[in-house]
Amino acid sequence: MTIDLNNICDQVIGISREVGKFISHEQSRLGTQNIEEKGHNDFVTYVDKAAETLLVNELAAVIPDCGFITEEKTVAQESKEYIWIIDPIDGTTNFIHGLPLYSISIALMHQNKIILGVVYEISNDECFYAVKGNGAFLNGKPIKVSNRRTVANSLIVTGFPYRFADRLDAWMALFVHFIKNSHGVRRLGSAAIDLAYVACGRFEAFYEYGLSPWDVAAGGFIVQQAGGAVSDYSGTSDWLFGNELLAGNDLVNEEMLVSINEYFPKATS
Ligand code: IPD
Ligand code: CA
Ligand code: CA
Repeated sequence: MTIDLNNICDQVIGISREVGKFISHEQSRLGTQNIEEKGHNDFVTYVDKAAETLLVNELAAVIPDCGFITEEKTVAQESKEYIWIIDPIDGTTNFIHGLPLYSISIALMHQNKIILGVVYEISNDECFYAVKGNGAFLNGKPIKVSNRRTVANSLIVTGFPYRFADRLDAWMALFVHFIKNSHGVRRLGSAAIDLAYVACGRFEAFYEYGLSPWDVAAGGFIVQQAGGAVSDYSGTSDWLFGNELLAGNDLVNEEMLVSINEYFPKATS
């Protein structure tokens, strides 16, 4: 099957903006009774689930016979030539606290390789997107990763995982190292936005572990298309399903990998 990727990207942007309106409208109606805890500090609301259903229904009409990998599991995962990877709200903790930093993250895989990514930051109406081989864009304008060359000159963003608490002490030691040796480290609470901001040069790099494919698929791909490098902590390309990720420009990433491996040894299990 041949598809027109640019046309599909336009459709995905339209769908994201439409579902984004639903999500931000519902934020004002949300009460604590609407919040469920899936695991420790891992929250979900009816808005996450309803937004996912809307996205799945709309995207199923864009490419016939496609598969889905979605955070809220509103649709069964099936192996198909084309697969959408969806996080309906990345930044649910921000969302339930009324903090306007959350996004929709949608990627399209063809034969297990990502070929399209859209991250829509709803409150700022900023849509970051890329299709394979065509650069990356923010609201229609081309974007590039930063050209700062050293960690010392970098603003870095990270996240603190809900899971794998046994590795948290080493993670904090690494965090302290980067605080002392960079312009600073931020924590926004949406991995998709973190990556989108790396893609347009607001941050030099993003690193986190305990991530899922729907957190990173679209954003990681957009960073790559914006000229950046994305890897796991061994420097390999296994960042989509590998739970750990470093993204930024080449030189900063290389320097950061050395520190990551020094302070945050590989998991033994
Ligand atoms: C979370 C956000 C957060 C990251 C977590 C993710 P969610 O996704 O991306 O920044 O630190 O690891 O699970 O739960 O808000 O979709
Ligand atoms: Ca997420
Ligand atoms: Ca989510």
